[in-house]
Amino acid sequence: WPFFAPYVKAINELKRVRNAVILAHNYQTPEIYNCVADVVGDSFQLAREAGKTDADVIVQCGVHFMAETSKILNPEKTVLIPDSRAGCSLATSITAADIRALRLKHPGVPVAVYVNTTAEVKAEADICLTSGNAVAVVESLGVPEVMVLPDQYLAMWIASQTAVKIISWHGACEVHERFTGAELRAYREADPDVVILAHPECPPDVLAEADFTGSTAKLADYVKVRKPRKVVMITECSMADNVMAEAPDTEFVKPCNLCPHMKRITLPKILESLVHMRDEVTIDPVIAARARLSVERMVNLKI
Ligand code: 13P
Ligand code: SF4
Repeated sequence: WPFFAPYVKAINELKRVRNAVILAHNYQTPEIYNCVADVVGDSFQLAREAGKTDADVIVQCGVHFMAETSKILNPEKTVLIPDSRAGCSLATSITAADIRALRLKHPGVPVAVYVNTTAEVKAEADICLTSGNAVAVVESLGVPEVMVLPDQYLAMWIASQTAVKIISWHGACEVHERFTGAELRAYREADPDVVILAHPECPPDVLAEADFTGSTAKLADYVKVRKPRKVVMITECSMADNVMAEAPDTEFVKPCNLCPHMKRITLPKILESLVHMRDEVTIDPVIAARARLSVERMVNLKI
């Protein structure tokens, strides 16, 4: 921590000078999550808070699609990402042209896209969803069939929770697809009382072994509210570090699958970002206006 202190001090001072707010995803490292973030949360919470802030500058500590979502909801504000190379295997798995082709193949079927997509893809969609509201968004459309793109595993999990028929795509999260059912069975065999929490981006054989499936915020709430004796969080590595600090009575088994994109964001890069006002996120205004409709439809749903 002594190494971090000068960065934390400088970042917090510069935030005041710039009238900036730092939004940090639950997968950010503890020094970012605890020492410089103004708002922490899952993708949905960050999208909702991005729409409410009165700061002039938003620094997004997360991956590029999250910064784009903040820009979509705040076209007049400056949105910065400390490293614009912070991508996502889901966001790169589908293009706007793919969505147009799917619409031709499935005429009349609404398109719900995961927030883990580019602004161009959101612009082609009817509505967005996140892991925290996916089933409710799908059911809110009131139709028998919905396309849920691009995460095949999230789509399979939604299909297991609803009577709505789900048409999916072949995208996957490079972090969550690495977990296996065998690995989870081994945790259970080592301690039959261990509580296994998993993110819905995991494959179905993994989710079949879990006690609870939910977004990063829901997994964190489960630990804070239910206080299990021992838990294993089947999601990105920093989650357990961040929740651990608020759950002193719970023991954590810690598999560590890192998201290399999330880990591009560091305190020195956040400081540079505020000093030089970079990397600024820009979106074609026509694309942004169309994408805003999809994001706002999700944010405004009373679910
Ligand atoms: P959450 O919306 O659950 O925070 O998930 C975002 C993400 O990128 C998971 O890999
Ligand atoms: Fe994308 Fe997976 Fe990283 Fe989340 S953990 S940002 S879904 S690659």
